[in-house]
Amino acid sequence: MSGKTIRLDRLLANLGYGSRREIAILARTGRIRLDGARVRDVEQRIAADPALETRLAIDDEPLDPLPGMILMMNKPLGVTCSHKEAGPLVFSLLPDRWRRRDPAISTVGRLDKDTSGLLLLTDDGALLHKIISPRHQTPKTYRATLDRPLRGDEAAIFAAGDLMLDGEDKPLLPAKLEVLSEREALLTISEGRYHQVRRMFAAAGNHVTALHRVSIGALTLPDDLAEGEFVVLGPAEIARIFVPQTG
Ligand code: URA
Repeated sequence: MSGKTIRLDRLLANLGYGSRREIAILARTGRIRLDGARVRDVEQRIAADPALETRLAIDDEPLDPLPGMILMMNKPLGVTCSHKEAGPLVFSLLPDRWRRRDPAISTVGRLDKDTSGLLLLTDDGALLHKIISPRHQTPKTYRATLDRPLRGDEAAIFAAGDLMLDGEDKPLLPAKLEVLSEREALLTISEGRYHQVRRMFAAAGNHVTALHRVSIGALTLPDDLAEGEFVVLGPAEIARIFVPQTG
């Protein structure tokens, strides 16, 4: 949004701080500060550039991330990547206010309810599209735990580029398997078909008992990001999403 200006009350309403009327009340009661000074005119236009996140404070707290942000979450098991399904949703792990943002935050693709690990969420439609677009083939790496010992031929089956999943008419792109132990492997895929990893192992005669996404491109889930926690990504981390993995 750099270079553009926006009315302060609209910006804050879009970030979920309340209606424009409620924002006016926040200002009247001295709860909005810009560069430390009390803001009285909420109709003023301001440049919505990243510096604003530290210049503007609401109730002495720094402003929420401006639109155009992307989050990395360590998705726990048992939560669904949907806005409307029944049961616990990933969005309930975000602050309440963030769920009222416009543009809304969406997940970048989906992880199954029974899959944990690296999940991206963003309000930036162009960025979302770039990450999930088949044209970009962004690699995603999963650690799969298997019901039965690996046979030894799975890496060749997945790398061949001719594996056909049940009910589909187009073969999968080549995928890379790295065996970690008898029943554990890393699988890197560059598509995002429905239940793809589980269905690939099923096609190879096995069954996935646990699935965890460890990376997207060269962006890896940090060890110190606890389940259910998330961080806002900076430009260098966002760039890592688009760095192809080697080897
Ligand atoms: N493949 C799966 O089977 N499940 C996921 O959640 C992601 C990839």
